[in-house]
Amino acid sequence: MTAHLIFDEPDGRNRLDSMAQDVIGRPIDRSEGALKVSGRAVYAAEQATSLWSEQRTDCLFGILVRATVARGRVTSLDTADALAVSGVREVLQDPRLVRHPAQGMARKSPPQEVADVGCFGQPIALVVADSFEAAREAARLVRVDYETAAAELDPASAPSDLPEKKQSSQGDLDAAMRDASESLDVTYRTPSMAAAAMEPHAALAWWEGDRVTLCGAYQMVSQNAEELADALGIAPEKVRVLSPYIGGGFGSKLGIAPEAVAAAVAAERLGRPVMVPLTRQQEFEIAHRRSETEQRVRLALDADGLLTGIGHEARVSNQPGETFSEPVQQATHYTYRGEHRSIRHEVARVNLTCAGSVRAPGEAVGVTVLELAMDELAEKAGIDPVELRLKNIPECDPESGKPFSSHMLAEALREGADRFGWTSRRQRGRQRAGEWLIGCGMAAAVRVNFLHKARVRVTLSGEGVTIESSMTDIGTGTYTILTQIAAEMLGIPPERVTTRLGDTDLPEGSGSGGSIGAASNGSATYLACEEIRRQLASRLGCAEEDLTLKDGRATCGNRSHDLAELIHEPLVAEGFFEPGKAMGRVRSSTWGAHFAEVAVNEVTGEVRVRSMLGVFAAGRILNEKTARSQCIGGMTFGLGMALMEEMVHDGRHGHVVSRDLANYHIPTNADVPRIEVHFLHERDAYGGTLQAKGIGELGICGAGAAVLNAIHDACGVRVRELPATPDKILAGLCGMQG
Ligand code: MOS
Repeated sequence: MTAHLIFDEPDGRNRLDSMAQDVIGRPIDRSEGALKVSGRAVYAAEQATSLWSEQRTDCLFGILVRATVARGRVTSLDTADALAVSGVREVLQDPRLVRHPAQGMARKSPPQEVADVGCFGQPIALVVADSFEAAREAARLVRVDYETAAAELDPASAPSDLPEKKQSSQGDLDAAMRDASESLDVTYRTPSMAAAAMEPHAALAWWEGDRVTLCGAYQMVSQNAEELADALGIAPEKVRVLSPYIGGGFGSKLGIAPEAVAAAVAAERLGRPVMVPLTRQQEFEIAHRRSETEQRVRLALDADGLLTGIGHEARVSNQPGETFSEPVQQATHYTYRGEHRSIRHEVARVNLTCAGSVRAPGEAVGVTVLELAMDELAEKAGIDPVELRLKNIPECDPESGKPFSSHMLAEALREGADRFGWTSRRQRGRQRAGEWLIGCGMAAAVRVNFLHKARVRVTLSGEGVTIESSMTDIGTGTYTILTQIAAEMLGIPPERVTTRLGDTDLPEGSGSGGSIGAASNGSATYLACEEIRRQLASRLGCAEEDLTLKDGRATCGNRSHDLAELIHEPLVAEGFFEPGKAMGRVRSSTWGAHFAEVAVNEVTGEVRVRSMLGVFAAGRILNEKTARSQCIGGMTFGLGMALMEEMVHDGRHGHVVSRDLANYHIPTNADVPRIEVHFLHERDAYGGTLQAKGIGELGICGAGAAVLNAIHDACGVRVRELPATPDKILAGLCGMQG
């Protein structure tokens, strides 16, 4: 029985509020947490070992060979030395390999000519051997001849295009800037960034007849199965993808990737399972990067402190022919008022690592820069930064005129200012402790909210509940929140709910990406449970709304039954949630406010973040602990963006210089202060049947701006080229002294 809901009308019934179990929202521990911390959760690269334990000792290992030119064509591969390494089976350059990961939700990934080199580090062949070590050694011994071509390595000077759909304007921004009583015209730069997930990509493939099974680290397995089928030229039904545990994705595992296709091709050819892991260095070269950005922001303010104009121009980059471009201005369209608006979006075509979705694509860097500019404008206009934002919250989407599904920015700003003690701290002014200058800053957090179609199957038996979907849990807490939804709806303790995810043989979930997972698959889980409740209610002869399920008992009026007695055979229902017309009628977004206190060393230029506070609203919070962890992670990314993250390409050859975690700096525990997260109570009727919105990507949006604005408050330096490393702070301090 499928309960299919096309979400055409908002759902303001808030039914989860009136269920009796009271487990929804609770900060319960991750249901798979014990497996993970004890090492029993088997990750992609560990699948080979688990095959061994099943007596399948025939697994081979593959290592991708990387291009060492930025652009050109492979003219020959000399594999003699590689093949001479003991245990090496084959060097493959199959026409079905892919050189770029598919983009998120692509559902296709046609083979890409790997002999055509579009960037340094691109995979061009695969070495397969009996051991990982032999494959890795041999991959270094493959000698490659290229016919090289001139490469575009500088995003600032490379030829560019203007994707039509990403340009927009209304009114006359130039006139608004001329007539403004205060205005700002400033350009910021953010560097390329890597997803840098803790778990590197890995894929293990084997064939049974004409059917291939792939165990790998992927965020959207149902779509990834279609992509793998496309690359291999086989029917999607012939592909099964398993991805039960994933050590972070952050966008880098959205699409099927070169290692997966290579593993499948090699396994077919050699008739044995083949595992292809990426080394940490390859992770930086092959997984998508976030594009660097150059962003010009223009703001026009009238004498009352109201914005009359907003301009946001961005130049980003990607390889020629790639359709993705970092959607920098995604939230600029609706964050602040102003009738004169202009958005220009330019994509430079470069021979650098392919760009794609990384950790809140768009807002992570776009909101950050907009919020840096707002701080500069507040200073120029002599208005408190919180006040400037509060004054400029629009009534409705300022471009489309659509109402907001819910709007919580003002509440977040006020609650945050209150909790942080903003007004008194700002009045107290800059503090000094020896060489350390202490200041504070803030920024708004904004992130678009999406829903996606999702299917989830729920089975209720005397034993408990089973939830099944191809949805993934990339470390965000999906296992746990789906468990909580079913426990709440069916009156079963969470310990008796089993959730199975990450298998394409199960009903098609949305996958994890764009913060769609919780609300979309949660709504599908809700629908399945509601259907089971209807079936139970009809057995009891009452309406579903009148049925109370609690602690394994069904109560209806004055009759009460043990659930196990009512169910002679398992009740099964599939929930199918499809976003319909509802979302198109509104602007749906999540909201928040960041506050930070930093200390800047006036001798060394070093920055220490002393505290961060985030206040967030994302509809119903399904689990306060997993939601908080998402926000803490996002804010930590923001800290890294402000102070350290930078993927550096060598300007001469385009190779990634900072391609390991020693050179690509991300915050460590010692860099991260106590981070406080507070959620605002909210129900969004447009957030599916749960009144929930995505929270995974909200925490990063604007967090870096709060840190950088605090640096300015502490020492007067505005760093407009991220990250704010000590050399840049010192240069600013010296400039001021001179
Ligand atoms: Mo996200 S960057 O859509 O995984």
